[in-house]
Amino acid sequence: MIHAVNRRLCVAPMLDWTDRHCRYFHRLISNEVMLYTEMVTCPAILRGDRDKYLGFSTAENPVALQLGGSDIKDLAECAKIAEDMGYAEINLNVGCPSDRVQKGRFGACLMREPALVADCFQAMQNSVSIPVTIKSRIGVDDEDSYEHFSGFVEVVKTAGCKTFIVHARKALLQGLSPKQNRSIPPLKYDYPYQLKQQNPELEVIINGGIATVDSATEQLRHVDGVMIGRAFWNAPWLIREIHDAMGMEKQLLSRDQVLLSYVDYCQVMIENGLSLHWLIRPILGLYHGLPGNKKWKSYLVTEAPRRKDDVAVISEAREWVKDVS
Ligand SMILES: Cc1cc2nc3c(=O)[nH]c(=O)nc-3n(C[C@H](O)[C@H](O)[C@H](O)COP(=O)(O)O)c2cc1C
Repeated sequence: MIHAVNRRLCVAPMLDWTDRHCRYFHRLISNEVMLYTEMVTCPAILRGDRDKYLGFSTAENPVALQLGGSDIKDLAECAKIAEDMGYAEINLNVGCPSDRVQKGRFGACLMREPALVADCFQAMQNSVSIPVTIKSRIGVDDEDSYEHFSGFVEVVKTAGCKTFIVHARKALLQGLSPKQNRSIPPLKYDYPYQLKQQNPELEVIINGGIATVDSATEQLRHVDGVMIGRAFWNAPWLIREIHDAMGMEKQLLSRDQVLLSYVDYCQVMIENGLSLHWLIRPILGLYHGLPGNKKWKSYLVTEAPRRKDDVAVISEAREWVKDVS
């Protein structure tokens, strides 16, 4: 067993997936996992519906807000707004390769502009007292050597950044969709490993392709933390399994109690006008790999769109899985 001290477990930021409902559900599963919002751009915060983009429940805490942008003043202002709202960390997205993001000169293309990232970091960190962190790739296009990557980190580190979350594959800025950019470029875990070895004072959190308890605990022999995205969406109970393997807090809700608490939450959200159809998305994988899983899922996806304000759908679906742990 890996001891939890100074070891971090994180759910990756995922656009359209890690919304506040998903995060509320994940928090019921683990009181120690670090949660990240979807990427929110500065213009959305400064000129959009702030409650829509930033609203969250304190029950989700600790939550990091992931910002997308490269305007120094806007980033500093957004970081401050988020701190005042109760967020626990600000994270800058230096990994998204989408065309829209590139046009805005942020996301992964910022790996080419370490001095600008350093300035963004510094401005944000000067405006808040919570930690500011960076989530990057290991490179972009043909700028993919370890020297390029460590050169980027060196510049941002000099500005004071102490935590680097590294999606351990490069991004190709032309010709691949964001989805392909999450699987086609090969994973190179040795980059973050070497980074940690050469910079023991930095907190290095590794991300990309980690999907089992064993692979997560193996990573923790090399780096300070693991961040997991798709595997937690597909099988959210894996959060608890890794939480347990890391020796974190024991007295937590059982799988069934987590579900029942989430049902109570859904009831309140439905009274506030939300649709059950949306709220069930994070729980579809709760029984991944267990008997009854298929029926549980298909009952939810068939019934929830038809009975958008009837939380009883979840209790009915639970009949298929109620005997599993
Ligand atoms: C649907 C989806 C949306 C994503 N949105 C974001 C995002 O908003 N910000 C970000 O930094 N990464 C985003 N990512 C990338 C993940 O945070 C993560 O880096 C990537 O999925 C690799 O980790 P994994 O193999 O554990 O899924 C997204 C991934 C997915 C699947």
